[in-house]
Amino acid sequence: MTTPEPALDLHVPDCSELGHERGTSAEATSRLRTWSRFGEPVAKRRTWSILCGMTTIFPDPESPISDARPVEVPRADYLLWAKRRPHPANDLGRSDVLGCTFDDVPGMRESLELSGRNDDGWMPLVDRIAARYGVEPSAVATATGTSGANFLVCAALIRPGDDVVVEKPAYDPLLAAPRLLGANLVRFERRFEEGFALDLDRLAAAVTPRTRLIIVTNPHNPTGVLGSLDQMRALGEVADRHGCYVLADEIYLDAIEGPRQAVAATLSPRIITTSSLTKAYGLAGLRCGWALAAPAVAEELRRVRDLVDGSGSILTERAAAAAFEHLPALAARARGILEPNFALFERFIAAQPALEWVRPDGGTVAFPRLKGVASADAFVARLFNEFETAVVPGRFFEAPAHMRIALGIDGGVLARGLEAIARALE
Ligand SMILES: Cc1ncc(COP(=O)(O)O)c(C=O)c1O
Repeated sequence: MTTPEPALDLHVPDCSELGHERGTSAEATSRLRTWSRFGEPVAKRRTWSILCGMTTIFPDPESPISDARPVEVPRADYLLWAKRRPHPANDLGRSDVLGCTFDDVPGMRESLELSGRNDDGWMPLVDRIAARYGVEPSAVATATGTSGANFLVCAALIRPGDDVVVEKPAYDPLLAAPRLLGANLVRFERRFEEGFALDLDRLAAAVTPRTRLIIVTNPHNPTGVLGSLDQMRALGEVADRHGCYVLADEIYLDAIEGPRQAVAATLSPRIITTSSLTKAYGLAGLRCGWALAAPAVAEELRRVRDLVDGSGSILTERAAAAAFEHLPALAARARGILEPNFALFERFIAAQPALEWVRPDGGTVAFPRLKGVASADAFVARLFNEFETAVVPGRFFEAPAHMRIALGIDGGVLARGLEAIARALE
């Protein structure tokens, strides 16, 4: 006798603040019969739902488990767009510094070996991360990119029904991951008129007795605005008062102008910093990320990694350890790309009365706003169709009148892309 499969516990988080309507699986099924996203045929098993900002995994009606209920998974619309978008001649849609080759990192190629003990991270890499950011090795948990580190933090801390406070505008995986884990999102705004600064009173007002985690990016993605050490310390105090934690995604921190700012995790045991070699060093391909946290929290993150992907790739960790030996040189390479591009962008925007911006504190992107419109979508589409130029539509960051423009790319490509924007604005 076979035991019946237990019913799936279907959790459908509320996505209303993303502007998606909430719907039922029946509605989704009927709409999907006539509609498919990206012009692809609607797959039998797995297809995209236009409802709820969710991917809906539909059981195959012909399979033996056809009575299983559909499973809805929160979707990260920006990442989906970033993975599928075309890359035109003037691609201003990126957010990392121009990728390195082996020639940029002496010794990296020679460091590669297919074996080595890296159960909880390869120790030479862990030691170098710790030394670079001024923490003990026990405070480091390695991960697959900042994305992996963010997920480990969410999975370790969030339980269904918890409140998670997240900035707005936000990088969308930082909304979708808490949703996947059953959190209720509570939002606080960072406003253009206030220079997108972190308003700690507004943030603190969003914290509830059920808040488990507060999520910020520092510098802020998409605006590049940096919260000061005092603000980050005060954020740690807010978390302490409420018995919760802060996830500070600091992936852009090493690309700020001027002296390097200490990572927020060094300011309070309530703050967990996540980062990687992706944005500031042109090493996106390594997928080398980490979380820095109080040692007991870092140990929890390592144990959660046991459930997620077990451990990292020894190849990546050896290569990343080699890169850490050359971070100052890689940072200088990045500055050599970013500084002239930043200057070029400042000259460009000063001559564009139709655009306004908050000047970022460095980082790898600018986030200008098209004046007098509710949405820059039509402009972004025209830029792509008529001028072979891609920028990221601000709607992916819940700021539809804006567009995000890459500053870490080849200077010639940036110059041609900005010329195209100027012509499209005429
Ligand atoms: C704020 C933020 N966090 C994380 C990531 C992903 O980083 P990684 O490539 O290290 O996973 C990005 C990439 O755009 C980002 O902007």
